[in-house]
Amino acid sequence: MIDEGANLTADGLHTVQLERLQWTLRHAYANVPFYTRKFDAAGVHPDDCKSLEDLAKFPFTTKQDLRDNYPFGMFAVPQDQVSRIHASSGTTGKPTVVGYTAQDIDTWATVMGRSIHAAGGRPGHKVHVAYGYGLFTGGLGAHYGAEKLGCTVIPASGGMTARQVQIITDFKPEVIMVTPSYMLTLLDEFERQGVDPAASSLKIGIFGAEPWTEQMRTEIEQRLAIDAVDIYGLSEVMGPGVAQECVETKDGLHIWEDHFFPEVIDPFTESVLPSGESGELLFTSLTKQALPIIRYRTRDLTKLLPGTARPAFRRMEKVTGRTDDMIILRGVNVFPTQIEEIVLRTAGLAPHFQLIRSTRGRMDHLTVHVEARADTTAERRVSAAAELVAGVKDGVGVTVEVKVSDPETLERSLGKMRRVLDQREPS
Ligand code: DLL
Repeated sequence: MIDEGANLTADGLHTVQLERLQWTLRHAYANVPFYTRKFDAAGVHPDDCKSLEDLAKFPFTTKQDLRDNYPFGMFAVPQDQVSRIHASSGTTGKPTVVGYTAQDIDTWATVMGRSIHAAGGRPGHKVHVAYGYGLFTGGLGAHYGAEKLGCTVIPASGGMTARQVQIITDFKPEVIMVTPSYMLTLLDEFERQGVDPAASSLKIGIFGAEPWTEQMRTEIEQRLAIDAVDIYGLSEVMGPGVAQECVETKDGLHIWEDHFFPEVIDPFTESVLPSGESGELLFTSLTKQALPIIRYRTRDLTKLLPGTARPAFRRMEKVTGRTDDMIILRGVNVFPTQIEEIVLRTAGLAPHFQLIRSTRGRMDHLTVHVEARADTTAERRVSAAAELVAGVKDGVGVTVEVKVSDPETLERSLGKMRRVLDQREPS
């Protein structure tokens, strides 16, 4: 049941996708006034979609569109058929609100169960879910998927870090699902309690909800002695479980394309890019009832690649940045993940860092505030700072200032990490 999509051939998949796409376009056009207006204004009708390529004729949907239709204006079914609501945290402006029918919840649990299975989780495993439960999709999304796969769920949610370590030690889960930055917080807590994380029962970590690098994978895999794999998703499209890295290949994330149709566009010209070219990822839902979404602009940057461990499904490269996380420093584009890579390969520096943007005179300035590891000498701190400055200059092409602090001085993540602090004066 869980891996039903894994048996599809590419031809079989395309047939299913086209049928589902045509249904989705008709459903959205008939039931969501926003889509009726949008399609009419663009001069397209659901009947114009005769092939998967025809999707390119349809207009995009943005986060702003969801905000403009706050709270329930994008729903395609009457409210009494909506069995669950989630919302994004909405750091700026109104949150975006999403809804699910009972069948949507079941579809979500199925793709999420498929993800956990691809990560190496099996029925009977105990799964510790430390993604936050609540309006955020992480906790409940992981929870339903693990149950559907036949696992035993430990619904820990985020926070109460000391107790999480105790629960892991006592309940002995094989799988943990958590943001990579909160995993680092948990690892430090293991060490603070004098418990060796590598000796824990954990075998698999399913990490997502924020960008993380190969260097971070190595750091976590080594300290915890597990396989660490990437999971991707977003509330507007479903939640976690849109795409998942397979444990046997760890080579990017297979997109569950029988439910979510991906495209990559050039964010500036807005034209569709061929496979293998980097750009902004778009998704169209294929089976969602309560909130069909057409060509949603994720703002996540990646490229599409052919399938490997699940040959019928294309992969997306690990997302290393969002258009809105990009810092333009004196004309050079900088992503926090580029800094993460360099911090993690600099001996003596801990994986905890924050980027502080400020203004000096009329110039934009970037400070990398990073912690030293516990055993780093004062001398090594100075040379590590110099290495980091040189590494960023060489690798990214910008000059930054580096501040190395004592261990455990930077704020710890309890969920999604806020990497960039903007202290610029408004111009
Ligand atoms: O973060 C859903 C999720 C929960 C995914 C748990 C994975 C695990 P949102 O809060 O709507 O949903 O945020 C979605 O988070 O557009 C990306 O920018 C980022 N993101 C999610 N997964 C990854 C990942 C959840 N694996 C936004 N790598 C997305 C990089 C990710 N960024």
